[in-house]
Amino acid sequence: MKTLIVYGTRHGSAKKVAYRLRTKLPGEVQVRSVTKERIPPLRDYDTIVLGGSIYMGKIQKELRQFAEEKETELLQKKVALYICAGEPDPALLARELKDNFPENLYAHAVVKEVAGHEIHMDQLNLLEKAILRMKGVKSSTFQLSADMIDRTAEKLKEPHS
Ligand SMILES: Cc1cc2nc3c(=O)[nH]c(=O)nc-3n(C[C@H](O)[C@H](O)[C@H](O)COP(=O)(O)O)c2cc1C
Repeated sequence: MKTLIVYGTRHGSAKKVAYRLRTKLPGEVQVRSVTKERIPPLRDYDTIVLGGSIYMGKIQKELRQFAEEKETELLQKKVALYICAGEPDPALLARELKDNFPENLYAHAVVKEVAGHEIHMDQLNLLEKAILRMKGVKSSTFQLSADMIDRTAEKLKEPHS
């Protein structure tokens, strides 16, 4: 099994999930930032994981663009999708996950998960802090889901149907 994990992040939690997932997967696993690194040709991989984080309801635009541009190829692969997102309402989280990837890709993916979230108050700019204050968030939180990472790895290890 050869896996490519492509992530988008602003403050590091989606990257952390990508690297944690890498440690749980068998075979060769490569991790690439969608904004900072060259993404190798997808034809070299059996499994592709796309993960990003949500700000004001949206995933990183570069990740969305990548998913759209590569959709045809991605539909030939085993695909997992995840987001890091902090909305407390599970229905809203589910909608953020679904709406931020192309419809056909979402339907095709064998894993679609919310990986939890982290907020590092000391890393946020004034605007970000103000936005969070309006949402009632006042302190740092560290709630990435180890279960999600284990579940995703187990599902990706299953033979491709
Ligand atoms: C300014 C700001 C806006 C955010 N907006 C949303 C949002 O609309 N929906 C959501 O579910 N989470 C939102 N979050 C929570 C982030 O998605 C969460 O902190 C995530 O772990 C950040 O990932 P990153 O470290 O990879 O950038 C927001 C966080 C900040 C700081």
